[in-house]
Amino acid sequence: MVSQWITTLEVAIRVLMLTRTDAKARGLADLPPVASDSLLQLIALCDADSRPEKIDVGVGVFRDGAGNTPILKVMKEAEQRLVDTQVTKAYLGSAGDKKFAELLRPIVLGEHASDDRIAGLQTPGGCGALRLGFELIATINPAARVLVGTPTWPNHPPIINSVRLEIVEYPYYERGQAAIRFEDMLQALSRGAPGDVALLHGCCHNPTGADLDPVQWAEVADVCRERGLLPLVDIAYQGFGRGLDEDAAGLRGILSQCEEVIVAQSCDKNFSCYRDRVGCLFVKTGSVEATRTAMGHVFQRAREMWSMPPDHGAAAVHIILEDPELRARWLVELAGMRDRINSVRQRIAAADPRLGFIGRQFGMFSMLPLSKEQVLKLREDDAIYMADSGRFNVVGMSDAQIDRFIAAVVGALDA
Ligand code: LMR
Repeated sequence: MVSQWITTLEVAIRVLMLTRTDAKARGLADLPPVASDSLLQLIALCDADSRPEKIDVGVGVFRDGAGNTPILKVMKEAEQRLVDTQVTKAYLGSAGDKKFAELLRPIVLGEHASDDRIAGLQTPGGCGALRLGFELIATINPAARVLVGTPTWPNHPPIINSVRLEIVEYPYYERGQAAIRFEDMLQALSRGAPGDVALLHGCCHNPTGADLDPVQWAEVADVCRERGLLPLVDIAYQGFGRGLDEDAAGLRGILSQCEEVIVAQSCDKNFSCYRDRVGCLFVKTGSVEATRTAMGHVFQRAREMWSMPPDHGAAAVHIILEDPELRARWLVELAGMRDRINSVRQRIAAADPRLGFIGRQFGMFSMLPLSKEQVLKLREDDAIYMADSGRFNVVGMSDAQIDRFIAAVVGALDA
């Protein structure tokens, strides 16, 4: 009798489940489409264009005068040494290559390198460092708001959204004036609440190329300290602007002024090892003890996301930085990349007064005052691929392509 009653109940439950549409199993086929990343989409669009004269000034990779992104000579040599001498590929742990992070300290942190309240760990590129930094913030304070300058790197907001932190935009750059909206930025930061995060670009601002000057950096550091904001400095292009130390000066000022700071660093550009994904996260707190605890959370988050970072690129950078001769040669190759960036900037700036601002900006990117329609027209008519925002990579083109690029852009500005 009881078993008959149970069977009837089971049937009733099953019928209920079948008729309730919200109980329907959701499968992969139910997923809504995702708008793909605009910069990655641009790579695919340009690759698909068969016009031989096409100019790719979209994604941020350094190209030399011949239009290639060669592996640095010093990197090739370090990789060879790595292959010849590496005796094991056994696990290293969530921190990755600890010596790699140690060797980076003086380069990134300068006079703060010996501050034992700052700890670092290897990450899969700068993007991994950013994600891990925001994971840490979401762990400490899920109510923190992230103050993000506009415009910013298109992948910043998705990374912040992925850890469910709220984004509050602050004005950073006025494209029409080619100027930083510094007063507006300061005001917006000073409206931040203690514990809110100030996302800052360490140097070579992506997408604008407009960097804060030393006085402005000092004011930003003051506001962060006074308001109790947590600065998260994204430094992905160190050495591409004025020099390694010059490009990190703003960050180092922040480290002097603020008790708690997070730094997301990338070697992908300055060692030209993009696809190897080489980066580092540094965390500073007010005490050695608090940093140790924070790093415990960082290791745990890293373990959950990627367990341990890929070794190869960081191991090669480790070899370069540890060997004085290779290190010196890296500095020369880095200076070569920087010189090309700055000389292409000067050449474009000299071509037309409306492009003069490009000569006063730094790093791989600047933004042209073009509408999306004009950008698309350049793509269609001239096979010139830049981001819809008008951001272009000044060293995306070869030397032979610069004049055609300038002529097409000036033509668009005249239209
Ligand atoms: C860029 O902004 O073009 C680079 O940082 C590449 C990327 O991952 O978006």
